[in-house]
Amino acid sequence: MNRILILFAHPLQQKSRINAQMIKSIEGLENVTINNLYNNYPDFFIDVNKEQDLLTQHDLIIWHHPFYWYSAPSILKEWFDLVLEHGFAFGKNGGELKGKTCMNVITTGARKETYTYNGFNRYPLNAFMIPFEQSAHLCQMNYLPPYAVHGSHLLDDNEVNSIARQYKADIIKLRDYDIPCSNFKKFEYSNDAISQLMP
Ligand SMILES: Cc1cc2nc3c(=O)[nH]c(=O)nc-3n(C[C@H](O)[C@H](O)[C@H](O)COP(=O)(O)O)c2cc1C
Repeated sequence: MNRILILFAHPLQQKSRINAQMIKSIEGLENVTINNLYNNYPDFFIDVNKEQDLLTQHDLIIWHHPFYWYSAPSILKEWFDLVLEHGFAFGKNGGELKGKTCMNVITTGARKETYTYNGFNRYPLNAFMIPFEQSAHLCQMNYLPPYAVHGSHLLDDNEVNSIARQYKADIIKLRDYDIPCSNFKKFEYSNDAISQLMP
């Protein structure tokens, strides 16, 4: 079983339609730890030792967040800046994260077809993920393609429920199967990799 750490970053959870449901759907799953960063650190004073301990205790690290200004809400940047220290995550005496797997779970307001070179947002989603991907690479982690839900504003309640159910099913697969990382990297989205490689 993979031990999964969900680093959830959403500053407006009381207004969240989609992420709140997705997170709720995976609450209480065995070997899945949900670390709600805005709830745990409302003052942004991140407990670096605690966060580093959590990282070492898990195999798959998931940064789960709405897409804000083509990136993540600000607490996640704070988390990267403080937790992925030289000597822990990288550098001569670093390497604590070596061999772990990581991925972003993202919801976007804009529709999928806007995230193309000819579309409104001018780049595919994975082009915006390069800082995450390269940070993972520096830490010798396996970075999987993003798991994304697009067009979040257009979803009705039934669609939100079914996305949350699917997320739970996919998290269970990621927990219970060996993840074929190099095959995942052939896909643009981890959603598709999971459905095709982990039927
Ligand atoms: C500050 C802010 C920035 C946003 N930036 C983007 C963006 O860059 N691209 C995009 O597609 N949607 C963007 N959105 C839309 C959010 O991604 C969308 O509201 C969110 O995925 C909905 O999830 P929720 O119901 O859990 O809040 C932004 C929303 C806010 C509030």
